[in-house]
Amino acid sequence: MTRTPKILTPAVLALLPLLFASSPAARGAEGANEGKTFSLVPAPVSVEPLPGSFPIHPGTSVAVDAGSPALKEIGRFLASRLRESTGYALPLDTAWTGTAIKGAPDAIVLSLAPRKAAIADESYELSVAKTGIRITAAGAAGAFYALQTLFQLLPPEFEHAAPVYGVAWEVPCVRIQDAPRFSWRGMHLDVGRHFFGKKFVEEYIDLISRYKFNVFHWHLTEDQGWRIEIKKYPKLTTVGSWRKETMGDGQPHGGFYTQDEIREVVAYARNRFVTIVPEIEMPGHSTAALASYPELSCTGGPFEVQTRWRVFDDVYCAGNEKTFAFLQDVLTEVMDLFPGEFVHIGGDECPKTRWKVCPLCQARMKAEGLATEHELQSYFVRRIEKFLNAHGKRLIGWDEILEGGLPPNATVMSWRGIDGGIAAATSGHDVVMTPTSNCYFDYFQGLTGEPGPVGEYLPLERVYAYEPVPPGLTGDQARHVLGAQGNVWTEQMPDTRKVEYMAFPRACAMSEVVWSPAAKRDFRDFSLRMAGQYDRLVARGINVRIPPPSGFEGTYVLYRDTSISILSQVPGSVVRYTTDGTDPVLSSPPPAGPLSIRTSTTIKARTFLPAGGTSPVPSGVYSIVDSGANGVSYRIAGPHSSGGLPVDTLRGVIYRISLDGLPLGPDSLTVWLDSYLLIGEEGVYQFTIAQGDPATISVDGSPVVDNRTAEWWDVPGGLFHLRSGPHRLNVTVVKTGRQAGLDLHIKGPGLELQPIPASMLWRRPR
Ligand code: ACM
Ligand code: ZN
Repeated sequence: MTRTPKILTPAVLALLPLLFASSPAARGAEGANEGKTFSLVPAPVSVEPLPGSFPIHPGTSVAVDAGSPALKEIGRFLASRLRESTGYALPLDTAWTGTAIKGAPDAIVLSLAPRKAAIADESYELSVAKTGIRITAAGAAGAFYALQTLFQLLPPEFEHAAPVYGVAWEVPCVRIQDAPRFSWRGMHLDVGRHFFGKKFVEEYIDLISRYKFNVFHWHLTEDQGWRIEIKKYPKLTTVGSWRKETMGDGQPHGGFYTQDEIREVVAYARNRFVTIVPEIEMPGHSTAALASYPELSCTGGPFEVQTRWRVFDDVYCAGNEKTFAFLQDVLTEVMDLFPGEFVHIGGDECPKTRWKVCPLCQARMKAEGLATEHELQSYFVRRIEKFLNAHGKRLIGWDEILEGGLPPNATVMSWRGIDGGIAAATSGHDVVMTPTSNCYFDYFQGLTGEPGPVGEYLPLERVYAYEPVPPGLTGDQARHVLGAQGNVWTEQMPDTRKVEYMAFPRACAMSEVVWSPAAKRDFRDFSLRMAGQYDRLVARGINVRIPPPSGFEGTYVLYRDTSISILSQVPGSVVRYTTDGTDPVLSSPPPAGPLSIRTSTTIKARTFLPAGGTSPVPSGVYSIVDSGANGVSYRIAGPHSSGGLPVDTLRGVIYRISLDGLPLGPDSLTVWLDSYLLIGEEGVYQFTIAQGDPATISVDGSPVVDNRTAEWWDVPGGLFHLRSGPHRLNVTVVKTGRQAGLDLHIKGPGLELQPIPASMLWRRPR
């Protein structure tokens, strides 16, 4: 997946900060649960707190109603899960008759109630009374979800991998009724860009099942690696599963799942009521397959498994029968491994470059009466759909499969916005919504202090606010919206810790989008409930991103002093801050009311959870400038007049090296920024330009950075030795489209990586 580079204006002030008291939500009086916020995510349909609690103790039994033998496995799962965390070996009675519970008056009883509607299989009722716990579900899935809710009512120590002794395993009395809103509650994982082994994939599935997701979309093939063993085509894994390096790092990367491993993962997921949707990409994103079998391409190759992130021109040849024979063989093995109804065939980002000049592809178009290469892609996907349908499977593909005409039974995964979803639903096709704007969890989560290169911005609030049913659909059309999904593309996630960080807590927000009633959506309430989830995820060893404090981050240029507030985003957590550019530690001061800023300052703040775990560290760079002497002179030329001459020229002064706030229209323009950089301490300074439009930067006439040849994910940087005193700084940006961007950072002695502070920028040498 490629995305348009885009610069973000630090729109911090537009974000509504949440202010929470810094003490934990007060526990009610002994035994009273009324008004208590249970830390349940996703929010159930209804929660009725009752007085008192039920203590799980070594004598508690787990019982399955004799009339509901389908729940035997769930009963075993409950007993074993309780044993894992409490150390209690609870007796399990799988044929309970409602009277005799051996040895103890209290029990956790599971039974089935008659089902009512299509998704009622997943619905449940959980009643916790002082005398016992009763779970009544429409099906085994509902009983499983009731258990997930029950576990979230237990203390966070329940999440440790080994038993924690000395904890009172009290479950507050409550009556909960619950059912999901959508039938497709998905999380995706790209194992093509970076490979993650079976153990992590299972951990991921287990984790999402705890938040009541029921679909795991496993993105198994990519330009950069083929990850699934196919017996008939061994080179797919002997050749296609390894690349020699990644973005020039010189380190080979690879791996794949054997078919036995896949079967184990499928069984593991089934036990958690998660259906796996395997994705085999076609016709594009297929270089790893073509490196293994170059005869399936238009040119014949040779190819190497790709080592860079981008969309590639070499794709499966749509004119060659060998391609279809190969893909049908591959899909035959895939269908055999994955019992779910859907097979995802990709379909996204397939350049038509090769097809346009390939004799076989052109002959196919002629023979089939196809007017465009888009129609050729449609022919391709229709053929594959026919094959899948003939084997009882349904085809799902990214929204590009709409181009050139949708196959008759296809389901669309709408990612380039919501239009694909609307088009599919209005023409009677099912759709899963996963627009980049709300569902791409590889986008960064905070404006400052986030790890790794940036892409686009997707904060937790925006995931939470997502409404999967696009506006304007009729009731019948809306029923085609099966649900939504969070996508985790892993170009920038070389390890599992980063995957966890990017997926959580945004997956928790998505779980509520797809499970909970729309009318219950309330971000403040969600944040209160999430406070308990952070403790649980940390206890489980998950590298969850704990929300940092807000209200101060960004880059600001001021003419006079100001005051800011550092606001906690996690109820019950501790906030610490610094003003000297260092990362806050627990012994740093807490913010005590509004903070006044009188000199140029960098503020950093961080959340600390009482049980351990800390947030990233956003920063607020405040520069107080002399409006008569500080600044950057700008000059803008263009747009070009009809005579081809530039319509010179706008001039003025700004206080940062930035395009924000310049009078730029939609046309292409050239922007010059000229200033003097006042260096305090002599030493080596580094300049980086993260992304944006083509730009050259020079200091004292020597080029420092030039991003004209770089891709957005490359972060070109330049090192420069600078004496103290003023240095000429000149920037030229050619603004090419509507999205203008310039993101220049500096790092040097006593200066952490940051936008050049306005107090260092002078209009005259000084
Ligand atoms: C995608 O992100 N290319 C589906
Ligand atoms: Zn071809």
